[in-house]
Parts: sequence; structure tokens; C-alpha cells
Amino acid sequence: MAENVEDLLREMEAYARAHEVPILTEAARPLYLRTVREASPRRILEIGTAIGYSAMLALREAPGAEIVTMERDAALFDAARSFLRRAGYAERATLLSGEAEKLLPTLSGPFDFVFIDAAKSRYPDFWLGVQPLLAPRAVVAADNVLFRGLVEGEGSEEWPKHSYRTMVLQLREYLRLVRSAPDFQTEVFPEGDGMAVSRRNE
Ligand SMILES: C[S@@+](CC[C@H](N)C(=O)[O-])C[C@H]1O[C@@H](n2cnc3c(N)ncnc32)[C@H](O)[C@@H]1O
Repeated sequence: MAENVEDLLREMEAYARAHEVPILTEAARPLYLRTVREASPRRILEIGTAIGYSAMLALREAPGAEIVTMERDAALFDAARSFLRRAGYAERATLLSGEAEKLLPTLSGPFDFVFIDAAKSRYPDFWLGVQPLLAPRAVVAADNVLFRGLVEGEGSEEWPKHSYRTMVLQLREYLRLVRSAPDFQTEVFPEGDGMAVSRRNE
């Protein structure tokens, strides 16, 4: 029998803390939930499952939706599968194990809501990779786009230090791509580590 989703979410939060798994921050959750609700998705695509926390939130928030989500870390993938099964969401969730770059070209759209939350240095590739999969009025949300304030705005003027350089430059490229994409309106919200929400209006 399916377990209570609220209890499972609390268990996942504790699991993430104990195992230092980065999941959607508390500060970004209301924005994420509102964005899912407003997109009223039938099909959701997620890049970066971790333990399935944001996937679980999306399935709870959009009861008619199904999700395809991908994760390259085998242990996290197994944990996500177990949590989503326990919630009774197995039939609504397709979990794909592996590198998103390789998996994206194997998928068929359309997806109404896409959540990008994986390697930050690959965000431009993910944006380009999901384009053929998007529904005409798709919403694409990308988490952590302001990465510790280093991507734009005050405090971002210095050349990023070596360990963050690729990530910061690729996040700037992501923002440039989404802002210049025809048919998309993008808002960048400061919640958490910054979330870009791009709405397609074809
Ligand atoms: C921030 S966590 C995802 C958190 C999750 N969306 C949530 O809020 O509950 C990012 C995850 O993306 C995975 N990841 C990073 N790069 C990836 C890639 N190229 N393909 C597949 N998974 C990737 C990492 O292993 C990690 O578990």
C-alpha cells in the first residue's frame, strides 16, 4: 500500500541531510511548486533526480501528470526508485539511469514542464537538448542559475575563481541563451540559489 507522501517527503529531507544530497532548498520550494502548478503539466521532464525529492513534489502538485527523470549516480537512482515506489508513484514515474546528454536524444516529447537541476556546467547543452522535446507552451525551470551570487549582479564582477570558472561561465551562457531565445519569456528569481523560469509562447 502507498505510504503517506508528506511523511515520505520529511524522510527524504532527513535522508538528504544525513547523506549530504543536494535537493531543492526550502527557500526555492514555494517558487518551484507555484511554477509546476501554473504549468499544469501532463508530462514532466527532469534532469537530475538525486533521491527523487523534486520529482515527488511535482507528482504531488500535479496529480494528473507523469514524469520522466534522469540520474547518473547509481546509488541515488536506487534511492529515488525506492522512495517513488513507496509513495505509490511507480506508474507515473519513469526513472532513467545514466548521463542526461546521452539520454535526452532518445526521448520523445512533448513535455509541458522541464526541470533542469544537474551539472551546472552543462546547462547550455541541456537547454539545447530539450528544445525538440518541448510542447508549444512548455515551461523550463533551471535551478541554481545565480550560483552563490557569482553569475550576475553585485559581487559577480570579478573573474570567477578557478574552481568555479567553468560553471559560472556556463551559467552566464545559459542565461544568455534563454533570454535571447525567440518565443520564450524568462524570469530569473532570487529564491534559493536563483531559478530561471522560461515560458514558451509559440
Ligand atoms: C541538485 S541534484 C538534483 C536534486 C533534485 N532535483 C531535487 O531537488 O530533489 C543534481 C543531481 O544531478 C545528477 N547529475 C549531474 N549531472 C548529471 C548528468 N549529466 N546526467 C544525469 N544526472 C546528472 C547528480 O548526480 C545529482 O544527483
